[in-house]
Amino acid sequence: MRITIVGTGYVGLVTGACLAELGHQVTCVDLIKERVEQINRGEAPFYEPELPRLLNTVTRQGTLQASTSLPEAMRECELSMITVGTPANADGIDLTAVADAAGQIGTWLHLAAPYHVVTVKSTVTPGTTATLVRSRVEAASRQSLGKFGLCMNPEFLREGAAVTDFRNPDRIVIGQSDQRAGNLAAEMYRGFTCPVIMTTLENAEMIKYTSNTLLATLISFSNEIASLCEAIPGCDVDAVMDAIHLDKRLSPIVNGERIKPDILSYLRTSSGYGGSCLPKDVLALRMFAKHISVSTPLLDAVTEVNTNRPRVVVERIIRTLGSLRNRKIAMLGLAFKPGTDDLRFSPAIEIINHLRQHGAIIHAYDPVALPAAAGIQNEQVILSDSPESAVTDADAAVIGTAWPEFAELDWHTFSNLMKTPYLFDARNAFRDKNWPASLRYIPIGVCIEE
Ligand code: UDX
Repeated sequence: MRITIVGTGYVGLVTGACLAELGHQVTCVDLIKERVEQINRGEAPFYEPELPRLLNTVTRQGTLQASTSLPEAMRECELSMITVGTPANADGIDLTAVADAAGQIGTWLHLAAPYHVVTVKSTVTPGTTATLVRSRVEAASRQSLGKFGLCMNPEFLREGAAVTDFRNPDRIVIGQSDQRAGNLAAEMYRGFTCPVIMTTLENAEMIKYTSNTLLATLISFSNEIASLCEAIPGCDVDAVMDAIHLDKRLSPIVNGERIKPDILSYLRTSSGYGGSCLPKDVLALRMFAKHISVSTPLLDAVTEVNTNRPRVVVERIIRTLGSLRNRKIAMLGLAFKPGTDDLRFSPAIEIINHLRQHGAIIHAYDPVALPAAAGIQNEQVILSDSPESAVTDADAAVIGTAWPEFAELDWHTFSNLMKTPYLFDARNAFRDKNWPASLRYIPIGVCIEE
């Protein structure tokens, strides 16, 4: 199938490369010439494990190419896919780029195959595809829906595991304006054995929001329980959650063996959720609900708990160290989670902001996100090129991202380099490790002994 992808951001490029791997003829369109050239050289413009190798393969075999020319890409094309950004704004979600992409596809629709399906993959609020996208395509093409088809096909790709997630989907969701459109979009995924859900455009849009807001809700629920445990001497959120996880409705026993679904890891405490999806999607759904006069007290609280979590972590540090004014804090990890260099809505960055407000001097290190973090530097935030230089003379170190390599550092030596050997684990990631006696490891979700 000839496919045009509009927008070579994270979702667009991963989707394009994976569809090209399946044998489709894919053209990724972007306005930025340098980015297009980079993709055509087989290079990934952002950090995502597995993508460079895949891009190299599909550009060399010629199933994927990038272009700045939408008309060229639209020639004989059967399906176009909108994968532009839908950032948060005061209104909840900024759909300008989606509307523009739909208009441009409409403009060149006459060049496409006789029957063409416009597919939205960007995360958009319910009703967007059937109203905004449809009207823009119709106005620009002077054709009515039916002459072309509309689909909404949300992505469920985790950063850091996006290629694997595309290759092994839990389900494929296709919202369709009509059956002909849906069938053509489903053709893209021929060969996948997972359930394929053919549904309305609005359901498809809502499934994406429900999926991400559920994850955010689980995280905030766990963090609210953690806040309670932190205030109750004798309570430990991990012990509580370990017992909860053993409920057979959460971890069923199959053939005598307990299955521990991945979802259980969202029922753990942390400094909160971040990234390009969860914070933005919870906000967009809340604002959308407001527009249609539906109250969302649960989702409002999910955001509130998450916003407070980095502050709670810093308050714990203050309870142990006292005033942070001019104290050196080593921040280990900046990315919103391991496996990515994405700093968007990263709880680690929020922790840094709170530490700064209390007058601390932060020396930050991340194994992959340092180039992306250049912009956060100032007189109080210094980027360190090694964990060792970050912790030297520090009053405390904080694990801001659960990079596994942080547990493997030589903490015995590090504790001797530090002014006071406190290690705060803001992700509660390394509680099982045998820490050297010279270091005081302080997890979250437990009451700090005075
Ligand atoms: C998410 C969804 O998982 C994905 O299906 C969707 O399409 C895009 O949004 P991503 O933003 O990459 O993907 O992050 P995810 O791995 O789900 O992590 C989201 C947040 O949950 C992060 O802040 C992370 O630290 C936290 N998280 C993640 C956990 O608390 N536990 C985990 O096991 C994984």
